[in-house]
Amino acid sequence: MRIAGKGLKMDNIAALSQKLSKASVKRYSNPYLEFDWPESLSEDSWWFSPELSSLSGTALYDAMPKEQKQRLAFWELVNFFSLNIHGEKALLQGLAKRLYSHWPTEISEYLHHFLGEENKHMTLFGTFCMRYAKKVYPSKAYALNENHIQSVEDFLFFARVVIFEEFVDYYNLYMAKDERLHPLCRAINQYHHNDESRHLAFGRKITRQLFESHAGDWGDDTVNGVRRYLGDYIQATWKEYYNPWVYKDAGINDFYDTYLAAWRHESQKQLRQTISSHCFSFFVTSGILAEEPVV
Ligand SMILES: [Fe+2]
Ligand SMILES: [Fe+2]
Repeated sequence: MRIAGKGLKMDNIAALSQKLSKASVKRYSNPYLEFDWPESLSEDSWWFSPELSSLSGTALYDAMPKEQKQRLAFWELVNFFSLNIHGEKALLQGLAKRLYSHWPTEISEYLHHFLGEENKHMTLFGTFCMRYAKKVYPSKAYALNENHIQSVEDFLFFARVVIFEEFVDYYNLYMAKDERLHPLCRAINQYHHNDESRHLAFGRKITRQLFESHAGDWGDDTVNGVRRYLGDYIQATWKEYYNPWVYKDAGINDFYDTYLAAWRHESQKQLRQTISSHCFSFFVTSGILAEEPVV
């Protein structure tokens, strides 16, 4: 199926960028002053919502005493913050590359806010991980084949941003509202969500616009290739939420087998599908994906 090109309507994106820049100025924040970092953390607190645990629904999780579930929750939060740091490092590079390029100035102005906000997020996540866990987990992401024409590269960059931020935002919103969690954990999740809602509005708009403007000229092979790429990226992104080193740090002996079993477990497949549904419906209704991927 050939998709008709509709011309690049960057004026729409410029208008949205102006609006989002104003909102970013209004909500400009200083995370160095906003957060209290305790000397040490209490061990009998929840640091990650149990329903979102990468082991929830498994027999192993059900059999764990509460203390071990809370220990696991702490390391899952460290993993969640670590994967945010790695995602945001790639995001900063891609955003910086697109400053003052072939798009209207209003877009560059908003990209400055986007960049500044992502840098502050990394500072928060990095401070938490290094202060309390003494480490950031390394990234397990593998490099996907990147050799595209400019319009495909721009489209794929923003599509990746939307996927990454949609999944993260589900966790942020859920944990910000979860009254069982430690106040510091809730506050960091709330802070991140406040900025991400603007990033997602921008990301969805530009991703859709780039696809509508260029897909008609790409041809079927490229459109199919782009869809396969996004499917692979979605799988790779989800795999980051399952980390054998988290299970080891939580005191689970068979940590690698636990990792393999958790990924394949039916309740985890359902959890991934639920969390992904908002993101997938955007990609299907905008015509970018032909159908919702199975994760
Ligand atoms: Fe962020
Ligand atoms: Fe963001």
